[in-house]
Parts: sequence; structure tokens; C-alpha cells
Amino acid sequence: MNATQLSLFPEIIPDKKPRPVNVASVPQRSLFRYPGGKTWFVPTFRQWMRHQRVKPAVLIEPFAGGGIISLTALFDRLVERVVMAELDADVAAVWQAIVDGQSHWLAEKILHFALTKESVIDAITKRPGSVREKAFQTILKNRTLHGGILAAGAGFIKSGENGRGIGSRWYPMTLARRLGDLAIIAPQIDFRHDDALNVIRAFSTEESAIFFIDPPYTAGGKKAGRRLYKHCDLDHNELFTLCAALKGDFLMTYDNASEVRDYARSHNFATRLIPMHNTHHATMRELVIGKDLAWMD
Ligand SMILES: C[S@@+](CC[C@H](N)C(=O)[O-])C[C@H]1O[C@@H](n2cnc3c(N)ncnc32)[C@H](O)[C@@H]1O
Repeated sequence: MNATQLSLFPEIIPDKKPRPVNVASVPQRSLFRYPGGKTWFVPTFRQWMRHQRVKPAVLIEPFAGGGIISLTALFDRLVERVVMAELDADVAAVWQAIVDGQSHWLAEKILHFALTKESVIDAITKRPGSVREKAFQTILKNRTLHGGILAAGAGFIKSGENGRGIGSRWYPMTLARRLGDLAIIAPQIDFRHDDALNVIRAFSTEESAIFFIDPPYTAGGKKAGRRLYKHCDLDHNELFTLCAALKGDFLMTYDNASEVRDYARSHNFATRLIPMHNTHHATMRELVIGKDLAWMD
């Protein structure tokens, strides 16, 4: 039995023991520390792009979050245009501000912010008067709340790196540099504060569109998505049905839950397991789903 046949049964993958990606080797482009972020998936994404027969016209990332896959696609010049969608209004404000040309304003604001617990509380409890102010508040929260979690109930980082506490993930120079880079590619981003399923539907008949789909994990009774994101109620069956109708190619990443594997099987999608390190440095395996994943073997 060859590897392709074996991989029809993701539970019985050959014992090749592929090692998890060292995320430090992947350029960090996003402003966010994102729970469930896909930096570890970047090498697999690049491999997928190399296997496209023609250069796709547009990449759709309907569950954008920190958006590392879209940003990599643009910085690596793998596509000319990306469409990113996100329902969370705080996260959306950051992308909207970047697309609206506010990167330099944000960079200045970050560079001049004197961070203390009191100044953070003061800044994030103000009513934002504009999209860029809301974006700044989001960046501040994302960099000072435990795990970058923006969902209700998250507390501030306590001890953090080198005992720097609340400031342990606040790197003004790094963030300002990233914003400078983001300003360059901003014209290539079409950001939509919209439901992922609407955006997928809008591009479903475009052959030259490709989709990277990374939904919150609440299928199969998993609760992680509920703790990490404000928006996590999703009709997974509808998502799979929409993907089955896509003219373009797609990749989905999902929890390796039996319900998800059942959805994939019932739509005749290919699946593979891929190792990654979670935030606690434990090795986990995530499910990759697509039309044809022979290029992964
Ligand atoms: C697993 S995370 C995506 C992480 C992202 N791939 C990254 O690398 O940072 C899922 C994201 O989908 C968003 N989301 C949840 N339901 C959504 C919906 N119906 N439409 C658009 N975005 C949604 C959540 O707010 C969350 O940011």
C-alpha cells in the first residue's frame, strides 16, 4: 500500500513522523498574537501554492483572524490580491484601519504610548471615536491580555517574559516596522467585516480564486473556539456544503475531531494530519482538508 492510499485513512498515517514547523523560522508579518494562529501552517501553504497549475488571481481568507496566510501570500507575491473577512468588530477595525491607510498613524500611536497597567486600562475603556482608535485599542488589548485572547473573560498577562508582566508582549519598534510593511501591501487587501459564509458564496463560481479556510473550532463538541473567540457559532455542515460547490481550489484546517472527519468523508474531500506545537509546546495533529491533497505526500 502506498502513502496515497494510506492517507485516505488519516488515523493510520505512515510512521514518517514529520516534525512540527519551528514557527521562529517563519517571518512574522501580523500585528496580532492570534489564538489558533496559523504561522505553523505557512510552509504547507507555500507548498500548496507551488502546486497550483496557474497563479491564482485572488486568495480568499474568510476567517481572517491574525491573517498570517493572506499576508504571507502578498509578501511572497504568490497572489496579487487577497480578500479577508472577519466578524469580530475589534479585529476587523485593525484590518480596516490598515486598508484605510492608517498604518502610519497607528505606528506613531504605538511608539508614543507609555505602557503601564493604568494607561492600558484608561486607553481600552475609552469609547473609540474612529476606526483607527478602535484598532489601536485592539492592538493594545491583544498585546496585554493573556494569550492575546479578545473574548470576554480574558485577564492581563501577569508575569510574562523576563518578569516584564503586562508589557512582556509590547514591542513598539517591531509593531511599527510591521505596520510600515503592511502599508505597502494594504492596497492589495480587500477587507470585509462580514460573515465568512457570505464571502465564500460571493466567490464560489470564480475558478481563479483559492480559499484558505480556518474556522473556529466548535465542531465535534470541542469547546476551545468558545473560549478563544467572540464569534464561534458556525454551521459547519453549511461550510462543507459551500466548499463542495467551489469552482476554485481550497484548503481547510480543522480540529482532528470525528465529526469533522465525517463531514469530510461525506463530501469526498481528501484529509491529511499535520503536526504542530500548541501554545503549551505539546505536539498536536491538525486536520487539513482539500479537494486533492496528493501534493502533501
Ligand atoms: C481559527 S481563527 C483564524 C486564525 C487565523 N487563521 C490566523 O492565522 O490568525 C477563526 C477566526 O474566525 C472568526 N470568525 C468566527 N466566525 C466567523 C464568521 N462566521 N465569519 C467570519 N469570521 C468568523 C473568529 O473571530 C476568529 O478570528
